[in-house]
Amino acid sequence: MKETVLSGMRSTGKLHLGNYFGAAVNYVKMQHEYDCYFFIADYHSLTTHPNPTELKHHVREMLATYLAVGLDPEVCTLYVQSDIPEIPELYLLLNMIAYKGELEKTASFKDKVRKAGQTINAGLLTYPVLMAADIIIHRAHKVPVGKDQEQHLEMTRNYVNRFNRLYEKEVFPEPVAFNFGDQLVKVPGLDGGGKMGKSEGEGNAVFLLDDEKINSKKIMRAKTDSGPTEPNSEKPVEIQNLFDIMQLVSTEETITTFNNAYNDCSIRYGDLKKQLAADVEQFIAPIRDKAKSIYDNETYLKEVMQHGAEKARINARITMDMVRDAIGINY
Ligand code: TYM
Repeated sequence: MKETVLSGMRSTGKLHLGNYFGAAVNYVKMQHEYDCYFFIADYHSLTTHPNPTELKHHVREMLATYLAVGLDPEVCTLYVQSDIPEIPELYLLLNMIAYKGELEKTASFKDKVRKAGQTINAGLLTYPVLMAADIIIHRAHKVPVGKDQEQHLEMTRNYVNRFNRLYEKEVFPEPVAFNFGDQLVKVPGLDGGGKMGKSEGEGNAVFLLDDEKINSKKIMRAKTDSGPTEPNSEKPVEIQNLFDIMQLVSTEETITTFNNAYNDCSIRYGDLKKQLAADVEQFIAPIRDKAKSIYDNETYLKEVMQHGAEKARINARITMDMVRDAIGINY
């Protein structure tokens, strides 16, 4: 039997290069090798982005992007989280074995508290529990994610082990973070800081559905320094970040040319950025153009959502029968 792969993205905005190369890069290949469940985490987005108009738009946009990169709804199971009522049911039950202290120590929660002070909702605190429910509702073995989700996966494994031990049944397998390469990926942002992210500031992320002008402008404005003064010196973080992004979209030859130019101090950052902008555009243009035409076909998108929900619920119901059975809620 094929192993089960589960992956999701929050519907807080358009997908960026970090989402793509962190998690989705191998989705198309995976769908043929594993039993794949790919979904849009719309409940998760309500923890920070409760806007009905934007939500609808983002969910449609994400679904169109998934289809544009080559996901086949007949091969994999492609669905929206809120279409599966078994997920919130499992989330409720998992909350009984999730410890408050443990949730308060989660890096993503601490980060939100730091940024938002007191206006923190309980959904943010229990965000990892909902994520665990997403994963184990399909009894998943592998979860394609970027490096930033490692801790959430660790927490999912804790809940799995706690549940199986408490009820003395191997209901859930232990899911592992997954990437076809040997390491989880962290795609850097354009602002010289940490990761590329939707909420990391305007100029930080290159979105798959933005047009050439917007993306080029962002890349041309990316942070750089005044250039190397000594041959073969180590690259500062902001320059390494640009090379790291280049690694994802440019040819080996281009990368070698700019590396050599850096090492002999002849590099001109304007040229590097221009080349990067052109390579990014070449990479995303086919995805963007296809996604835009799929986005306009509302009937098709609704069909895909409905079909995905039906398929996902079949497996989710099997899991919930096992869960209720284990807990004893089966009078
Ligand atoms: P989200 O929506 O922030 O990101 C979706 C996926 O993209 C990856 N990612 C990155 N990878 C590398 N470099 C980056 N700069 C970068 N930015 C984002 C993330 O690691 C993730 O794999 N909580 C999740 C959504 C979610 C989920 C799930 C994921 C809900 N339930 C169940 C997997 C399984 C999130 O906010 O991801």
